[in-house]
Amino acid sequence: SKPYLIAPSILSADFARLGEEVDKVLAAGADVVHFDVMDNHYVPNLTFGAGVCKALKKYGITAPIDVHLMVSPVDRIIGDFLEAGADIITFHPEASDHIDRSLQLIKSGGAKAGLVFNPATPLHYLDYVLDKVDQILLMSVNPGFGGQKFIPMTLEKLRQTRKLIDDSGFDIRLEVDGGVSEQNIREIAEAGADMFVAGSAIFGKPDYKRVIDAMRSELSK
Ligand code: DX5
Ligand code: ZN
Repeated sequence: SKPYLIAPSILSADFARLGEEVDKVLAAGADVVHFDVMDNHYVPNLTFGAGVCKALKKYGITAPIDVHLMVSPVDRIIGDFLEAGADIITFHPEASDHIDRSLQLIKSGGAKAGLVFNPATPLHYLDYVLDKVDQILLMSVNPGFGGQKFIPMTLEKLRQTRKLIDDSGFDIRLEVDGGVSEQNIREIAEAGADMFVAGSAIFGKPDYKRVIDAMRSELSK
């Protein structure tokens, strides 16, 4: 099976020192930078846009940037993120009027594409687009804020999604986002996830390397 990927969410980083924070978390062993885009419309919070993604690339971040779009409409902003150098772009299917088109837009720009499922969003949006999906992101909290509690039903949804991916034969990452910590990462991996977003669990602690090492050691058990 594929190696596990740890993707710190910079939502919980110090925005005034964002470049240094990203350097620090990558030096601490993170694999991917998770980039939460919120529009105060699809979700009740506002973060950053493609300009900040572009600035991080220009600053010299070479690790993949995993852009999680919590925006509606979706398509208009995809081009900006492709131009900014986003490596992975995921969006919420309920926020797109034309899911297949949004996926095609992302892939035609050379990025990996994914769909994000809120805790209560059914998986059936995948039915006719699985061949265009590189990544499936299951939200284990309702989107909009860092620091929320992991919703336990996600474990059952992860098991279902893992089976769906394995049965399909496609090469698809299974990412989980919300309330992930060194305390629960192992059971989340056992349920089928292979990519882990963690915001407050990493950036809320003084020693990022200690947390990421602890997560890896849980994953290697
Ligand atoms: C929530 C975001 C998450 C968030 C996770 O809408 O998608 O990426 O930053 O934060 P934690 O790990 O603190 O739950
Ligand atoms: Zn996210």
